[in-house]
Amino acid sequence: MTPVLKSVQTTLTEGVIELGVGHPTLDMLPLTFMQQAAAHRFAQGDPSFLQYGAEWGDGFLRTELAAFLTGQYAFPVDPEELFISGGVSQALDLICAMFTQPGDAIIVEDPTYFLALDIFRNHRLRIVAAPVDAHGLEVDALAALVAAHRPRLVYTIPTHQNPTGATLSAERRLQLVNLAQEHDFLVVADEVYHLLTYGDLPPPSLAAHVGTGQVISLGSFSKILAPGTRLGWISARADRLEVLARNGMVASGGGFSPLGSALIRSMIELGLLPRYIQGLRDTFRVRAAALTDALRALPVTFLPPQGGYFVWLTLPGGLDSAALLDGAVPQGVRFQPGNRFSPEHTQADKIRLCFAYYAEDDLREGVRRLGQALRAGV
Ligand SMILES: Cc1ncc(COP(=O)(O)O)c(C=O)c1O
Repeated sequence: MTPVLKSVQTTLTEGVIELGVGHPTLDMLPLTFMQQAAAHRFAQGDPSFLQYGAEWGDGFLRTELAAFLTGQYAFPVDPEELFISGGVSQALDLICAMFTQPGDAIIVEDPTYFLALDIFRNHRLRIVAAPVDAHGLEVDALAALVAAHRPRLVYTIPTHQNPTGATLSAERRLQLVNLAQEHDFLVVADEVYHLLTYGDLPPPSLAAHVGTGQVISLGSFSKILAPGTRLGWISARADRLEVLARNGMVASGGGFSPLGSALIRSMIELGLLPRYIQGLRDTFRVRAAALTDALRALPVTFLPPQGGYFVWLTLPGGLDSAALLDGAVPQGVRFQPGNRFSPEHTQADKIRLCFAYYAEDDLREGVRRLGQALRAGV
């Protein structure tokens, strides 16, 4: 028999509720909308999106995306300040390749999106951890770290942070940009969850500050459309984007995925993207509420998420989340233990739960199983 080779990144275990995965549900992905977008694009009779693409990405998509973001962000976004990337992950790699040297310092939040750390390690960067609280990155502590380490980059997830769900306050955003201007580092703002808000509106995207030249804001179609598109965007001042366009891989292969870009262009032209995002917000608002309501019965503390994918729990009595996970798997539930997100292993009594993958009943059942594991562990 022909073996079935793997086609998706994560394989779930039958019978286990995997509250650790940070993916949308398979059956929520926009198969029909993409089909309509593809029919629309292929009917135009113009094969240019099958050619090597412009280095900065498909100009039609950049124009449509600028208009879309202008509506979403409520401030003007200039298509000349947008570059189409292969998602945030690829954008981070490109930024490291073009703006850093091995041995440079990068300051990250502790906790942070753990897979970004591997990208920074690949570029031999020196990772320095800065603390966060309920209002996001602690900018006063950051100022001291900047003075001590002279970073080239500061990587932050300012809105509905992965994993804490915290959002950087408006006041701290300004302080951060001022600090970057004073000490000449680049703020790399990973804003993948900015458009997925279900509660209190966040302050404006850090893309509002790209004109300073110190801010690079990253967005992704992974979270607002489909991870399989492998596309996203970089907002930065045009001179910064010119540097990225000189990258050897970009020069050789051209702009990222002209084919996928052409489909997303049609999604926007047909008005399907905003409709799809509204559907995500409606679904995730209900799921987040189901998860947090269920969690109120457990002896844990957390910040109710206002958007994004995650809830970050503090366990009672300094309980170790890695040990709790060992006890939880036989109960049929999994989660991400806190130290996965911590470059300095300071988050042992935390766990991250995701509400994007499962519908309400499974989320409630997952919490019930987590409660059993906690009772056995406390
Ligand atoms: C904060 C954050 N940044 C980046 C990514 C990955 O983005 P992309 O799929 O655009 O590479 C994720 C996905 O979980 C994320 O949570």
